[in-house]
Amino acid sequence: MAKPRSQFICQNCGSVSNRWSGKCDACGEWNTLVEENVSSGVGASPSAAKARRGHAVELVALSGETDDAPRILSGIAELDRVTGGGFVPGSALLVGGDPGIGKSTLLTQTAAALARQGHSVVYVSGEEAVAQVRLRARRLNAIEPDIGLAAETNVENILATLEAGKPPALLIADSIQTLWTDQADSAPGTVTQVRSSAQALIRYAKKHGTVLILVGHVTKDGQIAGPRVVEHMVDGVLYFEGEGGHHFRILRTVKNRFGPTDEIGVFEMSDGGLRQVANPSELFLGERNEKAPGAAVFAGMEGTRPVLVEIQALVAPSTLGTPRRAVIGWDSARLSMVLAVLEAHCGVRLGQHDVYLNVAGGYRISEPAADLAVAAALVSSLAGMPLPAQSVYFGEISLSGATRAVSHTPSRLKEAEKLGFGRALVPKGSLSRDEGKAAARSTALEVLEISELTDLAGRILANARKKHPVPGEE
Ligand code: TYD
Ligand code: MG
Repeated sequence: MAKPRSQFICQNCGSVSNRWSGKCDACGEWNTLVEENVSSGVGASPSAAKARRGHAVELVALSGETDDAPRILSGIAELDRVTGGGFVPGSALLVGGDPGIGKSTLLTQTAAALARQGHSVVYVSGEEAVAQVRLRARRLNAIEPDIGLAAETNVENILATLEAGKPPALLIADSIQTLWTDQADSAPGTVTQVRSSAQALIRYAKKHGTVLILVGHVTKDGQIAGPRVVEHMVDGVLYFEGEGGHHFRILRTVKNRFGPTDEIGVFEMSDGGLRQVANPSELFLGERNEKAPGAAVFAGMEGTRPVLVEIQALVAPSTLGTPRRAVIGWDSARLSMVLAVLEAHCGVRLGQHDVYLNVAGGYRISEPAADLAVAAALVSSLAGMPLPAQSVYFGEISLSGATRAVSHTPSRLKEAEKLGFGRALVPKGSLSRDEGKAAARSTALEVLEISELTDLAGRILANARKKHPVPGEE
């Protein structure tokens, strides 16, 4: 028998190398390479399995008719939104997130929601004992007779249990990092084990039309494999995020073979579990201090949904040789760009100032459309002049200092109007597009088109010079 070969596999990204090194060449993480035995299972050399002659499969035309995938709606609207309109039978979903963020809570509630509609559910917990899962379910008011529960970590045992009965509509495996299979030689939690176990469960789900949800902890230290190593094997990847001190959580689609990938679901963690937040803007703007300088309301979009959120900037003279730039909730490279444009084209000197930027409520913005709101917040903080409370901002800024129109202008305006704002500052050209024209006619907002960033900076600074806050910016 051939000597088992060992390889070094990064527990963060799954890349394989032949020798150990302190830093993974592929993902740049430190101390994540672990020696794994690959004589069998995923990553094994072809000689490990006895060669078998394949058989011919029928080729079909791509143009053939196929019905839309049927869906199982959970009835939790925020969850159905991120899955793209419900679970697809036979598909596998990965729910990733930091430990303690609420993954088990969400899935217990999902299990109960499906069981209430008469679907059978199996919840396999590899982390908690049966009593713990029961206690949580009782607290969540999620005790349903159709949920089968097992505390098991061996994949062969799980599959044998499932094969013994009718296939469930939903199978939850919490978490993939605790699962292990006899098929792989490595220790539980390693990339090889996690992949082999996930593959075995996915095969079962595809064969029986079961919806499979795998839970994966995001790991920082690289001792156990992260959820990224199975992302390519599943049909959908959802990440559950939230900031430590805040009790709302965002479920974000990262990959979806059956729907869009830019949707979010917003939840609030309470004593009775996760509660849906149907109108996130009200939540993010809830604690707004309208009189503070350096705060601008950004009319953003998450997928098809508008979200209004406050951007806070603090600009203060620096005592350091290299001033500090700290950003929470936005891209720091993007902030550097906005600062550079302010310096180069608007005469706003920030080179001797520390700059802190924060997106309120622990929310994270990924859109470039936030540029204009960020610039407004920065200039407002530098000038010590609050922005008019009833204004919202959105738009991209180009390196030349000009503004650029962004998509979804009507939805953004509509949401701002709904929340009682009176004015929107938008890039030039936003209203000349067809959708923009219709939006301008239908909205009660006063829409001001800004063509150059310097116009906006000029307005705010001119107001500051007048020294008395006026409601408008003129
Ligand atoms: P949990 O779902 O166990 O997190 P994960 O599976 O992602 O590790 O949730 C953990 C946190 O949620 C825990 O700190 C307690 C809190 N929690 C509530 O605030 N309310 C609740 O009803 C439940 C069940 C949990
Ligand atoms: Mg858990």
